[in-house]
Amino acid sequence: MGRKVMGDFGGIIHGGDYNPDQWLDRPEILAEDLQLMKKANVNCVSLGIFAWSHLEPEEGNYDFEWLEEIIQRLYEHGIYTILATPTGAMPQWLTNKYEEVLQVNEYGVRNYPGKRHNYCPSSPVMREKTRQLDMRLSERFGGHPGVIGWHISNEIGGNGGDGACHCAYCQNAFREWLKERYGSLDRLNAAWWTGFWSHTYTDWSQIRSASARGEDLVHGQKLDWKRFVDSRQLDFCKEEIKAVRSHSTLPVTTNMMEFFYTFDYFQWAKTLDIISWDSYPDWHSGTDELRTAATTAAAHSLMRSLKKQSFLLMESTPSVVNWRSINRLKRPGMHELSSLQAVACGSDSVQYFQWRKSRGSSEKYHGAVVDHRGGEDTRVFREVTRLGERLGKIATRVIGTINRPRIAMIFDWENWWALDDAYAVDNNLDYREVFVDFFYPLWALGIDVDMVDMEGALDAYSVVIAPLNYMYKKGYADKVRAFVRQGGCYITTCWSGEVDETDLTYTGAHPLEDVLGIRTEEIDAPGGYCENSVRYQGVDYRITGLCGLVHALGAKVLAEYQNDFYKGYPALTRNVYGNGEAYYIASLNEQSFLKAFYSEVLRERGLGCGLAVRLTEGVTVNERNSTSEEQDTAEKIWFLQNFNREPATVELLECYENVETGERLSGEIKLQAFECVVLGRADGRNEF
Ligand code: GAL
Repeated sequence: MGRKVMGDFGGIIHGGDYNPDQWLDRPEILAEDLQLMKKANVNCVSLGIFAWSHLEPEEGNYDFEWLEEIIQRLYEHGIYTILATPTGAMPQWLTNKYEEVLQVNEYGVRNYPGKRHNYCPSSPVMREKTRQLDMRLSERFGGHPGVIGWHISNEIGGNGGDGACHCAYCQNAFREWLKERYGSLDRLNAAWWTGFWSHTYTDWSQIRSASARGEDLVHGQKLDWKRFVDSRQLDFCKEEIKAVRSHSTLPVTTNMMEFFYTFDYFQWAKTLDIISWDSYPDWHSGTDELRTAATTAAAHSLMRSLKKQSFLLMESTPSVVNWRSINRLKRPGMHELSSLQAVACGSDSVQYFQWRKSRGSSEKYHGAVVDHRGGEDTRVFREVTRLGERLGKIATRVIGTINRPRIAMIFDWENWWALDDAYAVDNNLDYREVFVDFFYPLWALGIDVDMVDMEGALDAYSVVIAPLNYMYKKGYADKVRAFVRQGGCYITTCWSGEVDETDLTYTGAHPLEDVLGIRTEEIDAPGGYCENSVRYQGVDYRITGLCGLVHALGAKVLAEYQNDFYKGYPALTRNVYGNGEAYYIASLNEQSFLKAFYSEVLRERGLGCGLAVRLTEGVTVNERNSTSEEQDTAEKIWFLQNFNREPATVELLECYENVETGERLSGEIKLQAFECVVLGRADGRNEF
């Protein structure tokens, strides 16, 4: 096996959060853990995530003996460690002695000690205590052969918080950040449009964080505060990375939270070696699994796209979570399917929260590999074991491959923040949900999609889709223009190109008017109940959201509104520009519209699912391809996944090999409910 996933580790990682610090007084439990991990085909754990009070029981008094013993014993059993820095939760001695480490909320109230993910990222004490501990961890464990990487903190900014602290240190840091960004108050006032309501700033010291207690209606200010909160936490994370690197060259990750509103993960990705994330889909909560499956695939794809490399599924539950109002068990088969879905989308691991159920506190009923009773005689343990076996079988075919889509979707955090605060015709607009609406039909067709932010390169793609691209960052319109001129296909929607990156609306024409060949005018929000529809290729599609009222300048009108005063207005246009073309979808419509429209675009562009297959509803495919540039001779594998609660039949139009069994498959094949089959070419090119 060539490529390493992390440190010295070459296979697919299977394991998860291991919290032996909760069981240090129970040696028989720790001994059982090792035996059971071997049985369950666990090969890696994440250690020390919330262990600060065990690692530094008193200020300056460090105790790493217990951790060293555990890392060593795991290693002797062939189990590797991803070692965490424990800043996800702070010890009592720290929070009680130094209140500045605790966050201040937007009303100016400082938190009491407790909970987690709530340190002030500007506090000098917090930074210094963290640095001291992280450097010592690096020194002691950075060279241990069993340690393969660093896990910085835990779900930074997560668990209900927004990562923001409004204390005096943070207010000062915000002002410094603004000075750097704008250079002068005049520029800041212009960008924030502070003349409105007479709120012009005349001294930097007057500026405060955006908050409900004070100013939260100046859009530019709010947007900058969100940017600052993001960059402040990232800055803290960078300090942690510096500290763990003091004595170690191991790769660094932090566990992300999919489309997590507060942080622009494209920025974070630049400082991390490996992307990892925690996936907890709400399976079995609706009439079917399909929307959940598509949303999860979108999140995995986002994680893969952040660095355009394979990622790690750092946490998932082997059975159930306990923090929704209703928490359903993963039904038989779903654990394997959802785990393999992650691998299908680019993960090189399947890891769990957590290895063994805690006895007390708020997660005692959260699913774990080992139940309170202990032992291996549980459905969950058997399913985890079986999955571990399967991962072992496919590992050599998976490692070193990645999904290589020809279609990209623009997903941009700053766009999300600005759009959310637009105060316009539809204040319930949900960027993420609309984004998944546009992703879903491609997922259903078995077509992988990358996600790119507005700063990302577009040239690797044939088609770029930009739903609700409300804000245009500097240089974005020119990049799109060049992409289309050179032959790309650009698809965008209403509520695009409205504001610049300071959240000021454009004056004059839409920045891409020439490329789109339309003039935008008004926008309507028909509300929950809408009787309007658009007619496309002779079929009427129901409108489900925003309706942009536009006029064709040079673009061809492909669909029109059917009702209301804008009956006959263009609802879908196509404009040829340079060697490419640009589509404008004026309204948000029911899903079948996008399916029909995408099919047309895919046909024109010669794009499709890489597996020769006739899919049925609820069955999809992802393709992982060699990371080498020579794709034609490359090894490819396909993950055929049935998200239906019943068996489904699909037709393979060529002969493939079942990678796990070696069986040759062609023609009609039956997939059991929640089954995933991993396929390779049957012509021998995949053989090792
Ligand atoms: C994650 C967190 C874990 C655990 C888990 C429960 O968000 O990182 O520590 O709390 O949720 O689902």
